[in-house]
Amino acid sequence: MAFQITKAVIPAAGLGTRFLPATKAMPKEMLPVVDKPAIQYVVEEAVAAGLTDVLMITGRNKNALENHFDRVGELEATLERKGDTERLQKVNFSTDLAEVHYVRQGAPLGLGHAVLRAKMHVGREPFAVLLGDDIIDSRDVLLSRMIQEQAKRNASIIALLEVDPSVAHMYGVATVEETDDPDVVRITGMVEKPAPGTAPSNLAIIGRYVLRPEVFDVLEHTPPGKGGEIQLTDALEKMAGAPEWTGGVFGVVFRGRRYDTGDRLDYIKAIVQLAVDREDLGPDLRPWLKDFANTLE
Ligand code: G1P
Repeated sequence: MAFQITKAVIPAAGLGTRFLPATKAMPKEMLPVVDKPAIQYVVEEAVAAGLTDVLMITGRNKNALENHFDRVGELEATLERKGDTERLQKVNFSTDLAEVHYVRQGAPLGLGHAVLRAKMHVGREPFAVLLGDDIIDSRDVLLSRMIQEQAKRNASIIALLEVDPSVAHMYGVATVEETDDPDVVRITGMVEKPAPGTAPSNLAIIGRYVLRPEVFDVLEHTPPGKGGEIQLTDALEKMAGAPEWTGGVFGVVFRGRRYDTGDRLDYIKAIVQLAVDREDLGPDLRPWLKDFANTLE
């Protein structure tokens, strides 16, 4: 029987400086997107793809995260006493969602360093990495497709999105070759945040990865790159160039809905986009939004 991936690694140690002062005492992953913290969307996505063993790489800010995925006795008791089963269910949902483990990153040395902290927990199995700034619409398929491709190709798989060349410098960008599948490409090169105008393609890496454990061996020898940080992109580029022992790297091109919560403007857009589609909020929000838009220039 084919090996079943069960582990998801979620780096959540960023300082969230773009959202100060909101993130002074609270991790940015806990910022609400409509009525759920951003991190809960990501954990729900992992669980929907069958990954129920979640390892969060946290920093000094882990208390709020741990509390969110843990029981909260007083609140549960109060809601129970009031007979508010709907809210009680919402509270319990995040508690029962997954088995969440935590390890601290220690020092903010980059995404590659954060992923390397998962080595002991993951062991020698393929695993997924989900970055919290990207929310993938739960109606669109990405992670389970990547897991299938990982099993089929015995390679590492990254998610790619076609972006406007004017924003390519904000991402890792891949050079690719076609395969016989229009949604899958073979990665031949990768560069982390190329200088504006120098991106080798318009295929940006978005925050979903399904990796072979050899990534740990490579990360251990990956020197600091862009921004003086140990970059996951650099380790993956090395793996793409050494398919004999790493299996190589392939990209799944995502054509669905993705919301970026990484900076303030995108965060506001993400909330509006998700809220207009919600059954409980959309019917009131949509007409209001149209009226409001009419009042703008
Ligand atoms: C990280 C990765 C980058 C990727 C991006 C996707 O960058 O290093 O390759 O394109 O996530 O969101 P960050 O946005 O964390 O700086």
